[in-house]
Amino acid sequence: MLWFHPLLQALTTLGALYVLFLGAHRFAAAHLGIKTVFAWKRHVFLGMGVLLLWLAGFTGGSVMAANTWGTEFVSGAHYWVGLAMATLIPVVFGTGLRMDMNKARRSRLPLFHGALGVALIALALTQAVTGIALIRTWIVGG
Ligand code: HEM
Ligand code: HEM
Repeated sequence: MLWFHPLLQALTTLGALYVLFLGAHRFAAAHLGIKTVFAWKRHVFLGMGVLLLWLAGFTGGSVMAANTWGTEFVSGAHYWVGLAMATLIPVVFGTGLRMDMNKARRSRLPLFHGALGVALIALALTQAVTGIALIRTWIVGG
């Protein structure tokens, strides 16, 4: 059970990299004038999946922390960065949903959405680093 949260979050982060790869095609076409094909529906479907799984994993991590330590916040940076992700996720989700449901020529909203998506992935990668440290201390080491 202890491995569930780390494995889910690591796999979800890999999925997010793929979602970003799809989004990068749109970026290249919209802002760099490079001809590409944007897998719109796949980006939306997998994007929603990734964001929901990250959120579920946030809850899962909190439950595990409560079980292990009897409280939250023990993990320091891992908790706070997780919380930052949990606040950014609805923004990326909301802007994505809006652009999907109401298609229009835009340049600033997609950029804002894409930049926050990149920020989420960067935060998730730092979670992997601090998360592995937690595994060493609490799961394997202790
Ligand atoms: C990890 C999650 C996500 C990442 C990293 C991400 C990243 C990106 C990037 C880089 C772009 C190109 C932006 C540009 O052209 O300036 C984009 C476009 C787009 N994304 Fe996402 N996205 C994510 C999730 C979502 C979700 C959940 C939805 C829908 C609910 C969504 C819907 C869209 C749409 C519709 C566009 C095209 C907007 C347009 O050009 O009019 N994305 N995304
Ligand atoms: C990517 C690889 C990740 C690994 C290896 C990892 C690993 C861990 C570990 C080992 C714990 C401690 C669980 C315990 O033994 O009680 C934990 C807790 C937690 N994780 Fe992660 N995690 C990762 C990603 C994430 C992400 C992406 C989020 C947020 C979206 C997140 C949010 C949390 C939260 C909120 C806790 C509870 C911390 C506390 O209350 O102090 N984790 N994680």
